[in-house]
Order: sequence, then C-alpha cells, then structure tokens
Amino acid sequence: MSKLTWYGHSAFLIETETGNILLDPFLSGNPKATVKPDTIQADYILVTHGHGDHLGDAVEIAKNNQATIIAPFELATYCENKGAKAHPMHIGGAYQFPFGRVKLTQALHGSAAPSGKGFVYTGNPCGFLVTVDDKTIYFAGDTGLFYDMKLLGELEQIDVALLPIGGNFTMDATDALKAVEFLKPKLTIPMHYNTFDLIRADADAFVRNCQQRGFKARALQVNESIEV
Ligand code: NI
Ligand code: MN
Repeated sequence: MSKLTWYGHSAFLIETETGNILLDPFLSGNPKATVKPDTIQADYILVTHGHGDHLGDAVEIAKNNQATIIAPFELATYCENKGAKAHPMHIGGAYQFPFGRVKLTQALHGSAAPSGKGFVYTGNPCGFLVTVDDKTIYFAGDTGLFYDMKLLGELEQIDVALLPIGGNFTMDATDALKAVEFLKPKLTIPMHYNTFDLIRADADAFVRNCQQRGFKARALQVNESIEV
C-alpha cells in the first residue's frame, strides 16, 4: 500500500515503504502549491520533460535529499550538469529500482529548459509507468492524445492514471476521456488544469463523464492524499 498526494498542477508524491517518489515537482512559482520545496523528503524524483512547470524544483530537491532524478537521457544529463544525481532512461525502457519498476512511455509534447533568452533542448518528453507494491500508476506527463494509449491499456493493468485535462498545451478533458477509454484504468485522476488561465477545465464534469462511461475518476484537492 502506498500513498499518493497531489501538490497541484502535475506535482505528486508517492510514499512507499521503500522510499518517497516525487513526480514533476513544480512547487516554487506554482500558484496552487502550498508545500515548500525544502520541506519535501524524496528518494527519487521523476521528471517528464524540461519545461519549468515540470522540472520545477527537481534539481534543488534532489541536491537537498541526495535523491536521484529519473528522466529521459538528455534531461537527466542536464540535471547532472546542474549537480544533481540522475538515472537516465528512455522511451520504451524499464528499470527495476528499490521501490519498484519504472517504464518510460512516449508523450506528444516538447522538452526544453530555459537558458538565458532561449532554451536548452532536453530531448523527448515522456510519461511514466510506475509499479509499486503490485500497483501500476500511469503518469502521462504533458501529452496530446495518442492512439498507442490503447496499447498501454492492453499491455498494462493500470490502477491509477494521472492525465492532463487542461488543454492548450496538452489534451483537454474531451480527449482525456478518450484516453481513459484506451487505458482502462481502475481510477483516473485529472491534473494539469486551472493552474493558469490558459488551462481552465471543469474537473468535476470530467469526473462525471468518466463515471457515465463506467470508469471511476476522482478530482483531488491540492494536498489531498489517497491510498493506492
Ligand atoms: Ni510542458
Ligand atoms: Mn506543462
């Protein structure tokens, strides 16, 4: 049994008996987050891509905690160059960590970190399948809808799907509903909405639409936790 907590936007913490796993820790500058980066205890930090609202405080938290950042190779190298410990992976690859298994999935998006007036490109963005205590969490990252989500639904028994619904930069709630039909998760939790005006979405309507199609969904409050 592990505990999943939402910090707002796409930032989550998974607490397991073998360590804490932090996902896309955008806390500083996140208008919805109330938790401070220096209070977070993490052993591993999973980062889907280099955009500021996902890489967030990952490097600082990794350094403070001697934690390892798990990310696509180019982004992992970027984090190492900033002084963090990192474990590089890439799309389609899986690795057994002390806490469980991590597999990288594709995400239809971009990946770059700000540098001066431009960017450092940080490779391809990804999503993560995280299997802890026999439960599989699919953390989609920032992505548009893609038909291979159907394949993920066939290959994996997904217990919890964390899906963006805010539109503009990612799929919206309508496309996310299609994603739920492809993935067939036991529970869907929406993310990446209402942090900024550009990504307004009605999470309650999304939850109702999932339920009407026979899929369980739940919109978490910021700092709310569930047992997984
Ligand atoms: Ni992004
Ligand atoms: Mn984003």
